[in-house]
Amino acid sequence: MFGKEPTGKNLLDPRRLPAHVAIIMDGNGRWAKRRLMPRIMGHRQGVKTVKEIVTAARELGISYLTLYAFSTENWNRPRQEVESLMDLLHQYLLQEAAELLGKRIRLNAIGELHRLPDRVRRCLKKVMQDTAGNDEMVLTLALSYGGRQEIIDAARRFASLCVQGEARPEDLDISLFSSLLWTGEMPDPDLIIRTSGEKRLSNFLVFQAAYSELVITDTLWPDFHRNEFEQALLEYQSRERRFGMTSEQLLCENA
Ligand code: IPE
Ligand code: IPE
Ligand code: MG
Repeated sequence: MFGKEPTGKNLLDPRRLPAHVAIIMDGNGRWAKRRLMPRIMGHRQGVKTVKEIVTAARELGISYLTLYAFSTENWNRPRQEVESLMDLLHQYLLQEAAELLGKRIRLNAIGELHRLPDRVRRCLKKVMQDTAGNDEMVLTLALSYGGRQEIIDAARRFASLCVQGEARPEDLDISLFSSLLWTGEMPDPDLIIRTSGEKRLSNFLVFQAAYSELVITDTLWPDFHRNEFEQALLEYQSRERRFGMTSEQLLCENA
């Protein structure tokens, strides 16, 4: 009688969307376990959610979407699960290449990519090259990714710049250090979403997350749909990002 409930999208302020949303896609294993299915079925269902959320983010006008798909620590899982995850990643890249091109989405990847199987790395490289000119959204997959490893890699790169005489230790500041991270030119994530209720970063973007807003939902990743993504964006828009200042200062700044 009163029409449909307003969706999150209708309530969202398009001028205050986060530029960069990063998601810790967690809970695939538990989703499968609850259904007495093998864990891989949860990962398979999780790929469907990836497709739905990539489409939603692009339609909503998010500029950068970063998905934590496989951590450096995930290499320690049983060999069979790791192999299945690599297969799923390969299939995803093969299936989605045309879709990403059509939607003008640029694919990017961060992590210790040399540790990925050759066939996956080659495919990833090809899709990244093919979509390099796209400008609607940057989709970054964090693969074999570890935030601490990324920081150490950046520190090593800075040290070698110093050894080569191209930089001095006193040149190092947050902006220079950020540019040496694998996330390079990307802005820091404004919003980090974690599904499945775990309240930790699990080595995700540890340097970049300094001032990110965190939204944690109990929903398992395979059950995370567009509507809940929009709810997370709404939650983000209800937060006051103070960056160490007071509310009063922010009011003056925005006046
Ligand atoms: C997230 O789901 C996917 C990866 C880490 C690759 P999990 O596999 O961690 O699922 P849970 O946490 O065991 O439920
Ligand atoms: C974090 O999930 C990594 C990804 C989502 C890819 P995990 O399931 O590996 O994290 P922990 O082990 O619970 O911290
Ligand atoms: Mg997990």
